[in-house]
Amino acid sequence: MAKNSPSFTFNSFKPAHTLSIGVKIGKAARPGDVILLIGNLGAGKTCLTQGIARGLEIAEPVQSPTFVLVREMSGRIPLYHIDLYRLSHISEIETLGIEEYLYGEGITVIEWADKGLDLMPVSNLTIHFKTTADTGRQLDFYPYGARYIDMLGEIK
Ligand SMILES: Nc1ncnc2c1ncn2[C@@H]1O[C@H](COP(=O)(O)OP(=O)(O)O)[C@@H](O)[C@H]1O
Ligand SMILES: [Mg+2]
Repeated sequence: MAKNSPSFTFNSFKPAHTLSIGVKIGKAARPGDVILLIGNLGAGKTCLTQGIARGLEIAEPVQSPTFVLVREMSGRIPLYHIDLYRLSHISEIETLGIEEYLYGEGITVIEWADKGLDLMPVSNLTIHFKTTADTGRQLDFYPYGARYIDMLGEIK
């Protein structure tokens, strides 16, 4: 995945900002959408996912899936929240059977997606997170495919 300039950059100055852009993503989401989150520990990937869940009208709290690698939550559309943090080898990810989610009817959000890029669909919304200050986070959006260009149009 070439890292040219992002289509859209969102500057967050506090967790509530990251949550609010997540809510917009959740509201714009459609069945089958795949959202890949890339960034360091503490960058706000789970925080954004909490917003997405809120936008999908999911009542249960979103936690870092530390012990389980995949959490399925039901809302307006099901949310599949996957975290590849603890996995170190692509073969471990292959055995998870994430294709079932990626090509399923829900929204798939994957934290640490860079650990398994070869397994990800070419059509996706990739978001890169950078910490810019204490509570500053820069979110760079890269839509791959027409669906995600449309989605970004709705979010911006
Ligand atoms: N602007 C911001 N956006 C998101 N989180 C922030 C922000 N500023 C500070 N934080 C803090 O950073 C941490 C982000 O944690 P988390 O979302 O779990 O990160 P990750 O999932 O990327 O490891 C939280 O403790 C949150 O309160
Ligand atoms: Mg996380």
